[in-house]
Amino acid sequence: MMSVISHWSLENQERARSILASYPVKRSALMPLLYVASLEHEYASLEAMCEVAELIDITPVQVQSVATFYTMFKREKIGDYLISVCTSISCHLNGADEVLAAVEEASGVASGETTDDGSVSVEHVECIGACGGAPAVQVNYELIEGITLDKAEALIDWLRDTKPTVLLADEMQQLFGGQRSFDWGSTEPQGATRPVPAFGPYGSTNGSARGGR
Ligand code: FES
Repeated sequence: MMSVISHWSLENQERARSILASYPVKRSALMPLLYVASLEHEYASLEAMCEVAELIDITPVQVQSVATFYTMFKREKIGDYLISVCTSISCHLNGADEVLAAVEEASGVASGETTDDGSVSVEHVECIGACGGAPAVQVNYELIEGITLDKAEALIDWLRDTKPTVLLADEMQQLFGGQRSFDWGSTEPQGATRPVPAFGPYGSTNGSARGGR
Protein backbone atom coordinates (compact mmCIF):
# COMPACT_ATOMS: atom_id res chain seq x y z
CA MET A 1 0.00 0.00 0.00
CA MET A 2 2.83 2.40 0.85
CA SER A 3 4.28 1.77 -2.60
CA VAL A 4 1.75 4.26 -3.99
CA ILE A 5 3.70 7.04 -2.26
CA SER A 6 7.20 5.61 -2.77
CA HIS A 7 8.03 8.66 -4.92
CA TRP A 8 7.28 11.03 -1.99
CA SER A 9 10.14 12.46 0.05
CA LEU A 10 11.29 10.10 2.80
CA GLU A 11 10.18 12.68 5.35
CA ASN A 12 6.63 12.79 4.02
CA GLN A 13 6.49 9.01 3.66
CA GLU A 14 7.41 8.76 7.33
CA ARG A 15 4.74 11.32 8.21
CA ALA A 16 2.15 9.30 6.31
CA ARG A 17 3.26 6.07 7.97
CA SER A 18 3.03 7.64 11.41
CA ILE A 19 -0.45 9.08 10.70
CA LEU A 20 -1.74 5.74 9.42
CA ALA A 21 -0.44 4.03 12.55
CA SER A 22 -2.35 6.50 14.74
CA TYR A 23 -5.82 5.61 13.49
CA PRO A 24 -7.48 2.25 14.15
CA VAL A 25 -9.89 2.98 11.28
CA LYS A 26 -7.86 3.88 8.20
CA ARG A 27 -10.32 6.28 6.63
CA SER A 28 -10.15 8.47 9.77
CA ALA A 29 -6.68 9.44 8.59
CA LEU A 30 -8.06 11.11 5.47
CA MET A 31 -7.58 14.75 6.46
CA PRO A 32 -4.08 14.58 7.95
CA LEU A 33 -2.97 12.42 5.02
CA LEU A 34 -4.45 14.88 2.56
CA TYR A 35 -2.56 17.58 4.37
CA VAL A 36 0.76 15.75 3.97
CA ALA A 37 -0.09 14.90 0.36
CA SER A 38 -0.66 18.63 -0.19
CA LEU A 39 2.79 19.33 1.23
CA GLU A 40 4.27 16.76 -1.13
CA HIS A 41 2.44 17.96 -4.25
CA GLU A 42 2.21 21.66 -3.20
CA TYR A 43 -1.59 21.38 -3.28
CA ALA A 44 -4.35 18.78 -3.15
CA SER A 45 -3.90 17.76 -6.77
CA LEU A 46 -5.85 14.99 -8.45
CA GLU A 47 -2.81 12.77 -8.11
CA ALA A 48 -2.54 13.58 -4.40
CA MET A 49 -6.21 12.74 -3.84
CA CYS A 50 -5.87 9.43 -5.71
CA GLU A 51 -2.84 8.48 -3.63
CA VAL A 52 -4.63 9.24 -0.37
CA ALA A 53 -7.63 7.24 -1.54
CA GLU A 54 -5.44 4.22 -2.18
CA LEU A 55 -3.67 4.59 1.16
CA ILE A 56 -6.91 4.36 3.11
CA ASP A 57 -8.87 2.18 0.73
CA ILE A 58 -11.65 4.56 -0.27
CA THR A 59 -12.50 6.06 -3.65
CA PRO A 60 -10.86 9.20 -5.07
CA VAL A 61 -14.30 10.81 -5.20
CA GLN A 62 -14.69 10.35 -1.45
CA VAL A 63 -11.37 12.12 -0.92
CA GLN A 64 -12.41 14.83 -3.34
CA SER A 65 -15.66 15.40 -1.44
CA VAL A 66 -13.61 16.29 1.66
CA ALA A 67 -11.04 18.36 -0.24
CA THR A 68 -13.75 20.44 -1.88
CA PHE A 69 -15.63 21.03 1.39
CA TYR A 70 -12.67 22.33 3.41
CA THR A 71 -11.37 25.45 1.71
CA MET A 72 -7.95 25.21 3.33
CA PHE A 73 -7.22 22.29 1.03
CA LYS A 74 -6.16 24.05 -2.15
CA ARG A 75 -6.92 22.35 -5.44
CA GLU A 76 -4.56 24.39 -7.53
CA LYS A 77 -1.10 25.73 -6.96
CA ILE A 78 -1.08 28.98 -5.03
CA GLY A 79 1.55 31.63 -4.45
CA ASP A 80 4.40 31.68 -1.94
CA TYR A 81 2.32 34.04 0.19
CA LEU A 82 -1.39 33.48 0.61
CA ILE A 83 -3.18 36.62 1.82
CA SER A 84 -6.52 35.68 3.43
CA VAL A 85 -8.77 38.66 4.11
CA CYS A 86 -11.67 38.01 6.48
CA THR A 87 -14.89 39.53 5.17
CA SER A 88 -17.31 38.13 7.77
CA ILE A 89 -19.54 40.42 9.78
CA SER A 90 -17.17 42.00 12.36
CA CYS A 91 -14.48 42.59 9.77
CA HIS A 92 -17.05 43.72 7.22
CA LEU A 93 -18.32 46.36 9.64
CA ASN A 94 -14.75 47.50 10.21
CA GLY A 95 -13.74 48.02 6.60
CA ALA A 96 -12.80 44.54 5.36
CA ASP A 97 -14.09 45.22 1.85
CA GLU A 98 -11.77 48.20 1.57
CA VAL A 99 -8.89 46.16 2.98
CA LEU A 100 -9.55 43.45 0.39
CA ALA A 101 -9.63 46.06 -2.36
CA ALA A 102 -6.32 47.52 -1.12
CA VAL A 103 -4.71 44.06 -1.09
CA GLU A 104 -6.03 43.35 -4.58
CA GLU A 105 -4.78 46.70 -5.85
CA ALA A 106 -1.33 46.35 -4.29
CA SER A 107 -0.85 42.74 -5.39
CA GLY A 108 -2.39 43.21 -8.83
CA VAL A 109 -4.70 40.18 -8.56
CA ALA A 110 -8.33 39.73 -7.59
CA SER A 111 -9.51 37.47 -4.80
CA GLY A 112 -9.15 33.84 -5.85
CA GLU A 113 -6.18 34.54 -8.11
CA THR A 114 -2.39 34.29 -8.03
CA THR A 115 0.15 36.70 -9.47
CA ASP A 116 1.90 35.61 -12.66
CA ASP A 117 5.23 35.33 -10.86
CA GLY A 118 3.68 32.95 -8.31
CA SER A 119 4.55 35.16 -5.37
CA VAL A 120 1.15 36.19 -4.00
CA SER A 121 -2.34 34.69 -3.88
CA VAL A 122 -5.34 36.59 -2.53
CA GLU A 123 -8.55 35.17 -1.11
CA HIS A 124 -11.42 36.34 1.04
CA VAL A 125 -12.40 34.03 3.86
CA GLU A 126 -15.01 33.54 6.53
CA CYS A 127 -14.36 34.44 10.18
CA ILE A 128 -10.83 33.58 11.31
CA GLY A 129 -11.61 33.96 14.99
CA ALA A 130 -10.14 37.39 15.56
CA CYS A 131 -13.38 39.41 15.52
CA GLY A 132 -12.28 41.65 18.40
CA GLY A 133 -9.30 42.76 16.33
CA ALA A 134 -11.26 43.34 13.12
CA PRO A 135 -10.41 43.85 10.36
CA ALA A 136 -8.15 40.83 10.38
CA VAL A 137 -6.06 39.12 7.71
CA GLN A 138 -3.71 36.19 7.59
CA VAL A 139 -0.56 35.63 5.59
CA ASN A 140 0.11 31.91 5.20
CA TYR A 141 -2.33 31.49 8.09
CA GLU A 142 -0.32 33.77 10.42
CA LEU A 143 -2.64 36.41 11.88
CA ILE A 144 -2.56 40.21 11.68
CA GLU A 145 -5.30 42.12 13.51
CA GLY A 146 -6.47 45.70 13.14
CA ILE A 147 -4.91 46.21 9.73
CA THR A 148 -5.42 49.54 7.92
CA LEU A 149 -5.51 50.27 4.19
CA ASP A 150 -2.01 51.80 4.23
CA LYS A 151 -0.64 48.88 6.19
CA ALA A 152 -2.29 46.39 3.85
CA GLU A 153 -0.42 47.93 0.93
CA ALA A 154 2.80 48.09 2.96
CA LEU A 155 2.39 44.40 3.81
CA ILE A 156 2.37 43.42 0.13
CA ASP A 157 5.44 45.59 -0.56
CA TRP A 158 7.23 44.04 2.42
CA LEU A 159 6.53 40.51 1.24
CA ARG A 160 7.80 41.30 -2.23
CA ASP A 161 10.87 43.23 -1.07
CA THR A 162 12.07 41.04 1.78
CA LYS A 163 10.75 37.65 0.65
CA PRO A 164 10.65 36.25 4.20
CA THR A 165 11.10 32.48 4.41
CA VAL A 166 9.40 32.29 7.79
CA LEU A 167 6.39 34.40 8.65
CA LEU A 168 5.87 35.21 12.32
CA ALA A 169 2.52 36.56 13.49
CA ASP A 170 4.09 38.67 16.24
CA GLU A 171 6.46 40.35 13.84
CA MET A 172 3.77 41.07 11.24
CA GLN A 173 1.39 42.30 13.94
CA GLN A 174 4.05 44.75 15.09
CA LEU A 175 4.80 45.95 11.56
CA PHE A 176 1.30 46.03 10.07
CA GLY A 177 -1.27 45.45 12.81
CA GLY A 178 -3.35 47.69 15.02
CA GLN A 179 -6.06 46.95 17.58
CA ARG A 180 -5.80 43.35 18.80
CA SER A 181 -8.63 41.18 20.10
CA PHE A 182 -6.71 40.16 23.20
CA ASP A 183 -3.22 39.99 24.59
CA TRP A 184 -1.59 37.11 22.74
CA GLY A 185 0.57 36.39 25.79
CA SER A 186 3.80 34.54 25.11
CA THR A 187 5.58 35.00 21.81
CA GLU A 188 5.05 32.19 19.31
CA PRO A 189 8.54 31.01 18.33
CA GLN A 190 7.44 29.15 15.22
CA GLY A 191 6.26 30.73 12.02
CA ALA A 192 4.80 29.56 8.73
CA THR A 193 7.13 28.48 5.97
CA ARG A 194 4.49 27.69 3.36
CA PRO A 195 1.00 28.73 2.29
CA VAL A 196 -0.53 25.75 4.06
CA PRO A 197 -1.96 25.70 7.59
CA ALA A 198 0.91 25.80 10.06
CA PHE A 199 0.99 22.50 11.91
CA GLY A 200 4.48 21.93 13.31
CA PRO A 201 4.51 18.11 13.35
CA TYR A 202 3.60 18.03 9.66
CA GLY A 203 6.41 20.27 8.61
CA SER A 204 5.00 23.62 7.56
CA THR A 205 6.42 25.65 10.44
CA ASN A 206 9.88 26.75 11.30
CA GLY A 207 11.46 28.92 13.97
CA SER A 208 14.69 29.51 12.14
CA ALA A 209 16.07 32.87 11.07
CA ARG A 210 14.37 34.63 8.23
CA GLY A 211 15.98 35.43 4.93
CA GLY A 212 15.42 35.62 1.19
CA ARG A 213 13.91 32.70 -0.65
S1 FES B 1 -15.40 38.39 11.48
FE1 FES B 1 -13.34 38.63 10.83
S2 FES B 1 -12.24 37.55 12.33
FE2 FES B 1 -14.31 37.18 12.89
